[in-house]
Amino acid sequence: NPKAIRPQPGDTFAYLSGEAKDQKVMAADLKVGDPPRLVYPVDPATGTIRSGSRVNQILLIRTDPAALTAATAPRSADGLVAYSAICTHNGCPITLLNEDGRSVVCTCHGSRFDLADNGTVLTGPATRRLAGLSIAVTDGAVTVAGAFVGALGAAPSQQ
Ligand code: FES
Repeated sequence: NPKAIRPQPGDTFAYLSGEAKDQKVMAADLKVGDPPRLVYPVDPATGTIRSGSRVNQILLIRTDPAALTAATAPRSADGLVAYSAICTHNGCPITLLNEDGRSVVCTCHGSRFDLADNGTVLTGPATRRLAGLSIAVTDGAVTVAGAFVGALGAAPSQQ
């Protein structure tokens, strides 16, 4: 199933929902302070949106580049960072930016993850960090630059 293939280097992204659903994600559309945007990778050769697997739901957000740690900066682009959008606690999609501007909150049970430091868990009940994805900006579009790093999905013991 080509729709279920994991993100591949060179993929673009499409919005998963909202008014811009299925439209290509351009870097200029993502501003510091905006909530995380949920997106799917897209095969640029065929236009196939890789929406056939829930673990392909990716969270894209622009952060302050100066705040990124050494583990996170190399896979960011102009402060843009990407993580798996699936909460590692019990699999809810992560949609909320915390007021500190550098962490995201899962609204299901309140787990909080550090965007600027590799998706590390700041507040439980989640115990495992979010998988990260290397990204780049190509011709103004946000693109995939590498494979996911880290385990995907919710912790097996809690599913
Ligand atoms: Fe995210 Fe429980 S599913 S905190």
